[in-house]
Amino acid sequence: MDTPSRVEHQMTDKGYVPVYTTAVIEQPWSTYTETDHATWATLFQRQRELLVGRAAKEFVENQERFGMSADRIPRFDELNRVLRQATGWELIGVEGLLPELTFFEHLANRRFPVTWWIRRPEQLDYLAEPDLFHDLFGHVPLLLNPVFADYMQAYGCGGVKAAGIGPEALVNLTRLYWYTVEFGLIRTSEGLRIYGAGIVSSKGESIYSLESPAPNRIGFDLERVMRTRYRIDTYQKTYFVIDSYEQLMDATRPDFTPIYARLREAPSFPAGDVLATDSVFQRGTGEGWLADGDV
Ligand code: PHE
Ligand code: FE
Repeated sequence: MDTPSRVEHQMTDKGYVPVYTTAVIEQPWSTYTETDHATWATLFQRQRELLVGRAAKEFVENQERFGMSADRIPRFDELNRVLRQATGWELIGVEGLLPELTFFEHLANRRFPVTWWIRRPEQLDYLAEPDLFHDLFGHVPLLLNPVFADYMQAYGCGGVKAAGIGPEALVNLTRLYWYTVEFGLIRTSEGLRIYGAGIVSSKGESIYSLESPAPNRIGFDLERVMRTRYRIDTYQKTYFVIDSYEQLMDATRPDFTPIYARLREAPSFPAGDVLATDSVFQRGTGEGWLADGDV
């Protein structure tokens, strides 16, 4: 199979930006180069070592259930055999970020889009968009957890609904995704652990999110989270901590329609603010924070 055409670039007022196709692509596994497999191996080994005692335990457990290893880039069809059987989810290959509504519809149908290509060797520590390593190593393990798997589907359904309500609702919902699925921490009997995919796929943030005195670590509260702006270009200023995936599921079960209506009138919070009503695990020192750039 030929390598599917990579990203086209289009000139906009922000310079050249990548434009992706929304097509579902069969993973072109045989086209991965030795360099691609080596990139996977390096990242896999590095993060696995770092995540001992840092990531929620089901992370590594589930990667093992999937048979993910440093040896080679996993095959989606092999992962799918395990995943379908366990929670009825399915991975689909995609070129990259999808339009919001397309993404929500996949989740609502228990399909998780995975970027088929892997970053280049000079991008080991950072890249601005999701690649195969972020998606497979970061997101896919928790899809074996039945409660988290249901949360992801409910999120997709909620997204379809929010898209019909309006852009402000989508902003609120996106913040929830950001502070849970991407950058969430969980409290365990052994201490705080990482479950967010954006953290576990990043060497620097895996350490920073748990060990740095700079960021806030605050107990999860639905409306608080939905009002909090976030960072896309630096580590987070605030991490929200859940007690369990059940807590997340229960908190997000109610109909959000009245919440969206209420939040339209409510101001948003800067990413680094601590409120009097917060349940604070750690008040950050704010060291190294950039003053502007919250989105
Ligand atoms: N209960 C939410 C709604 O009515 C849907 C949702 C569930 C959103 C889980 C996010 C996460 O919109
Ligand atoms: Fe992600």
